Amino acid sequence: MIPSLALRPAGVEDAGLLFDWVNRPDSLAGKRQTTAPIHWENHQGWLSRLLANNAARLWIIEIGGRPVGQVRLAPDAAGRRMVDIFILPEARRGGLARAALLHALAEAGRLWPAQPVYAEVLTDNLPSHGLFRRLGFALEQTAAGHSLYVHQA
Ligand SMILES: CC(C)(COP(=O)(O)OP(=O)(O)OC[C@H]1O[C@@H](n2cnc3c(N)ncnc32)[C@H](O)[C@@H]1OP(=O)(O)O)[C@@H](O)C(=O)NCCC(=O)NCCS
Repeated sequence: MIPSLALRPAGVEDAGLLFDWVNRPDSLAGKRQTTAPIHWENHQGWLSRLLANNAARLWIIEIGGRPVGQVRLAPDAAGRRMVDIFILPEARRGGLARAALLHALAEAGRLWPAQPVYAEVLTDNLPSHGLFRRLGFALEQTAAGHSLYVHQA
């Protein structure tokens, strides 16, 4: 338990915050399909669709009321529920991602019982491999440049 940690559902008012975070180099570097900076109009459309999608959830992670990251659950094109997480560099290595992912997994279990949660991790993203393994994710598949992990409900 991290004192003053809170996760709140994201809303349209978080568009600017999320836009700043998604276009940071280390955020883009962790993505497989998105490599170039995202444009504002595309970001707004993406966020609106996500917030309207009842099969998805997006939370802002806060410490003492200050936003320090986001965690998201959303189905991919194949219908797998993927998790994505970003923590601001200055807030890392304090257990925040671990705590936020535990929250997201608990919510997934409550909302969508018996459905697995997947994480896609680029091969060279070593922190994320450790993070997901330690949370009980199992390696499902390795492909060129990335691995797919699964957390069974
Ligand atoms: C990956 C990321 C979310 C980790 O956030 P964090 O808050 O620093 O992670 P935690 O402090 O909760 O660490 C939990 C575990 O993850 C692993 N880990 C995290 N950072 C690590 C690092 N730099 N090197 C090695 N292992 C690391 C460790 O196993 C760690 O457990 P430990 O501290 O007991 O060793 C963060 O580095 C980040 O936002 N990176 C950019 C975006 C990204 O890659 N997202 C993942 C793709 S879905």
